[in-house]
Amino acid sequence: MFMNPIVKKLIGWYEKEKRDLPWRRTSDPYKIWVSEVILQQTRVSQGINYFYNFLEAFPDVEALAQAEETDVLKVWQGLGYYSRARNMHRAAKTIVQNFGGKFPSDYKNISALKGIGEYTAGAIASFSFGMPYTAVDGNVKRVLARLFGIHDQIDTSTGDKKIKKIAQELIPGENPGTFNQALIEFGAVWCTPKNPKCETCPLQQHCLAFANKNVDQLPAKKPKKKPRDRFLNYLVIQNSDHRHLYLRKRSNNADIWKNLYDFPLIESERPLSPEELINTREWRKLIGENYRSLNRKSDKKKHQLSHQTLHTYFWEVNIDNLLEPDSSVNGIIKDEKRNVHQYPFPRLIDAFLQENFAEYEKKNE
Ligand code: ADE
Ligand code: SF4
Repeated sequence: MFMNPIVKKLIGWYEKEKRDLPWRRTSDPYKIWVSEVILQQTRVSQGINYFYNFLEAFPDVEALAQAEETDVLKVWQGLGYYSRARNMHRAAKTIVQNFGGKFPSDYKNISALKGIGEYTAGAIASFSFGMPYTAVDGNVKRVLARLFGIHDQIDTSTGDKKIKKIAQELIPGENPGTFNQALIEFGAVWCTPKNPKCETCPLQQHCLAFANKNVDQLPAKKPKKKPRDRFLNYLVIQNSDHRHLYLRKRSNNADIWKNLYDFPLIESERPLSPEELINTREWRKLIGENYRSLNRKSDKKKHQLSHQTLHTYFWEVNIDNLLEPDSSVNGIIKDEKRNVHQYPFPRLIDAFLQENFAEYEKKNE
């Protein structure tokens, strides 16, 4: 059977060079799904741990569907984009309700699941069910843009369509999953964003970017927007005996970190002095005069999200007789410090707790 020489060499390279990764030893669509969603968030080296932890906590669709959302978020803690975890949880419920807990094998049904886009659907359909759907992620886009000399910005609809068309034309009828894996792997370890190994590349003679000496210009992307600066003053409000503290569950409508936990928060336009802090409306509503001491607990911490730069300050507020929180103040709860490890936190809160609370032990370490 004729096979495009690029495809043939790529698959030959993959068979020889592929890494032995846990999700490559299974065709279970649930496990493939879990791995692909994790790998959209992080590198393979870190992803392996999350993969094992996730499957240990939720070994199958049924277990995930039955879990509490907080527990799903806890296992996801640190990966970011928590909506991915919430969507998986919802999709698992759908699979149980509509498909008796058996992962659907029909492309339409797969891609109708919450949070499963074109890439993930193609990965599951091809890796698990051997169906000839492409799985075009960032790695694949980079490889194909270089090989075929595509100069359109890959994050525009024109560029995206061109790349996907090429992938669709290349994909072999036999073992399409292996082809997809090979492209992803090639992008991840060989045709990397920086310092691709062009000199010894098995596809070099087919590569337009190499021939034209513009590998470093590809793939083209839209210029990045400058991230927005935000100033977050977190109030670490604890009882003067240091046994209890306030946490806050972020709402389902929060702009970031929906349903995760952090501390009561006062957001400001710029850094605040202690005097400015205690004169904010939020401080007066939450604390007023009723505190023993206020200390700036840490230097400013910078935390980069995709479109926002968070400048974060932690303030330690000691209060005598910390009351049960006022139910009119949304989401605030009181708990013992020794229970704090049970809650799912955004990474910057997790880091703060690790540095400052001896009682806080990270479960998975
Ligand atoms: N990145 C995205 N999917 C991957 C996979 N299946 N193996 C390795 N890296 C990946
Ligand atoms: Fe990528 Fe360089 Fe190989 Fe072209 S020659 S496919 S740019 S590694």
